[in-house]
Amino acid sequence: MNALMLTTDLELKTKLQQLCAAMSPPITLVPDMPGMLRLDPVAIAVPDLVFFDARGEQREVLASLERVSARHPEAMIVLLVPEQSPDLLIAAMRIGVREVVSFPIDFAELEMAVERVIQKRNEKVRAEGKVIAVISSKGGSGTTFVAVNTAYALASVAHKKTLLIDLNLQYGDAALFISDVKSPATLTDLCAQIHRLDAQLLDSSVIRAAPNFDLIAAASDPDPEDKIKPDHIAALLAVARRQYDFILLDMGRQVNAVSIRALDGSDLIFPVLQQSLPFIRSGQRMLDMFSTLGYRKESIRQILNRYDESGAVTQADMERGLGQRIAFQIPNNFAIASESINQGEPVLKIARSSAIAKGFNNIVHALTKTHESSPHSLIRRLFTRGTSLTH
Ligand SMILES: Nc1ncnc2c1ncn2[C@@H]1O[C@H](COP(=O)(O)OP(=O)(O)OP(=O)(O)O)[C@@H](O)[C@H]1O
Ligand SMILES: [Mg+2]
Repeated sequence: MNALMLTTDLELKTKLQQLCAAMSPPITLVPDMPGMLRLDPVAIAVPDLVFFDARGEQREVLASLERVSARHPEAMIVLLVPEQSPDLLIAAMRIGVREVVSFPIDFAELEMAVERVIQKRNEKVRAEGKVIAVISSKGGSGTTFVAVNTAYALASVAHKKTLLIDLNLQYGDAALFISDVKSPATLTDLCAQIHRLDAQLLDSSVIRAAPNFDLIAAASDPDPEDKIKPDHIAALLAVARRQYDFILLDMGRQVNAVSIRALDGSDLIFPVLQQSLPFIRSGQRMLDMFSTLGYRKESIRQILNRYDESGAVTQADMERGLGQRIAFQIPNNFAIASESINQGEPVLKIARSSAIAKGFNNIVHALTKTHESSPHSLIRRLFTRGTSLTH
């Protein structure tokens, strides 16, 4: 967390510095350079927090506050006001300032305001996008099919802003499953510019596969391992989390430094299996590897693709063999699956009411259901109980 101090009062600056240094963890101060206007220095880094000294001629102060708020839209502003001046406060509230401390500054009060800001920011961080790694232990299990259709379902049914990244370093084909648009950039191109990657560059590099659904195509060069490094993936995920609700990774079946870093950065792992003994064996090996890497069992959701009720190896056999429950099933339907892949159209578009489409809807439902513990639902529960008592 870092902060910018906008004040010309040197004594106040020293006190704010002490306050920031005493916070746990300490708040770093963003250096600034003198700007054109007295109250508008130019910040050298992007601040999370701005201390804004609002003493001075009111119109000038307000204009400066508006400029600061427009220049740092993500920053929380703590306004230090001369006295409770209603006009200034109303204008400040209108541009989103929620923390106001008046002069003479009570530093205990200011510390509490800063703590509230930190708490709000942490809540915001928690609201960042979820990363889901879809991985196969054996080729041809349907990893790409599951990743593409889950992403499309999240975007179209749950209206979640979704990004699919094709992490198959060789022969990635996810883009072909959903779009015939030529990709503006591949994963290799993005990694080559990783030092300047931001929301804008990411936005201009994706294929717009469908409304709410963007895709980063796989590396296209024959030897991408030289150009795609584990640190690149971590940086890409950090930017993507801020822009999307869900980021799905088509991991294919390779295990290397890049895919391990991608798994490290994932909230959930979806291994894709089919009903057969070789899948039980390779699934077990994969679970052993996850355990060695320290991934929690709760973050692993097994997906049984091409599910067939009458298969010789049953779902119960799979669960026993793996020592883990199957979380979701995607039924076997070769006609729909191959039509979808050949046409480059998701299952939810070409066969909305099929059992296979329901399988993807179930995944989306589980990923997006909210817990019933909000104050709103508590009030509703109390209210419902109250009314039922009176009848
Ligand atoms: N639920 C399903 N029902 C029937 N066929 C399916 C199903 N899911 C996938 N398939 C078929 O399996 C084949 C492989 O699918 P896909 O390319 O998604 O697998 P993959 O695990 O990504 O393979 P690779 O290891 O080559 O990347 C496809 O041709 C598709 O038609
Ligand atoms: Mg694939």
